Amino acid sequence: MSALGKVVVLGAGNIGGSLAQRLAELDLAREVALVDIIDGLPQGKALDIQESAPILGFSTQVTGATSLDALAGADVVVETAGLARKPGMSRSDLLEKNAAIVRGHADAVRRHAPDAVVVVVTNPVDVMTYYFREVSGLPPARVFGESGTLDTARFRTFVAEALHVAPRDVTSFVLGTHGDTMVPVLSLTSVGGVPISKLLPPDRIAAIVERAKQGGAEIVNLLKTGSAFYAPTASQAELVSAIAQDAHRLLPVAAHLDGEFGEKDVYVGVPVVLGRRGVVRVVEVDLTPTERSAFAASVAAVRADLALLAKTPG
Ligand code: LAC
Repeated sequence: MSALGKVVVLGAGNIGGSLAQRLAELDLAREVALVDIIDGLPQGKALDIQESAPILGFSTQVTGATSLDALAGADVVVETAGLARKPGMSRSDLLEKNAAIVRGHADAVRRHAPDAVVVVVTNPVDVMTYYFREVSGLPPARVFGESGTLDTARFRTFVAEALHVAPRDVTSFVLGTHGDTMVPVLSLTSVGGVPISKLLPPDRIAAIVERAKQGGAEIVNLLKTGSAFYAPTASQAELVSAIAQDAHRLLPVAAHLDGEFGEKDVYVGVPVVLGRRGVVRVVEVDLTPTERSAFAASVAAVRADLALLAKTPG
């Protein structure tokens, strides 16, 4: 029997389609439903993925729909809908348009799937997660945002490349916002337990940190027509798996803070324990004074976007 009944993926763009494929192949739900307003897109992608089942051996049923009624009975909802960045844009440039989309979806989750765990992916993700939580009225523990696992995967990739080691042996946490002020935490970065400071000189580490911070933009600039989706959906699938298996994985996500890290009433990337009902707890880690001030600047950037959102009509 599958670990989950139904996972609903809102948005059937590059992220939604790739995520539905990954989730189907992981065989962790009875049904994966892809939902989009463009008639034919979710149905077409769903059918295409479904037709790979005989070859790949999964039992998940993949469905496509244009109506948000498909949210009914969802155990997990992944919000991927919204515009993606084009070259030269920051994630915050998407705020107003994506807020309108997220508002409609959060309201539909409130009505159709109030018991679901929600993973928000839409950018600017820390702000959209806050907004989704607010409009849906769901408990904060059941709504969180994906970004830290992606930013950390990018950072781990570049560290692994510099050292010629297996990427999975690099452990790290990238905290703070999913934007230019994100905070790769060097004091928590190691390779097989060996601190990064013992393996690479400071200038190499600084260059890797900078590349990781610009990791999303690097892909946007290469693709020119949209943003990344392979690494993002690998990271989202990791989060949905942790929920499905009630795995209590320790992962960085955009979580609601209520005093942890000295912050309140904000969503930002921090380490959490993740289980079947969402965020089990936020794990407060010791940061160095430099990391603490970088984290504070990151939270300030999220709060600035939240203030913009408050002024957005609607
Ligand atoms: C990225 C976008 C999706 O970081 O935020 O690739």
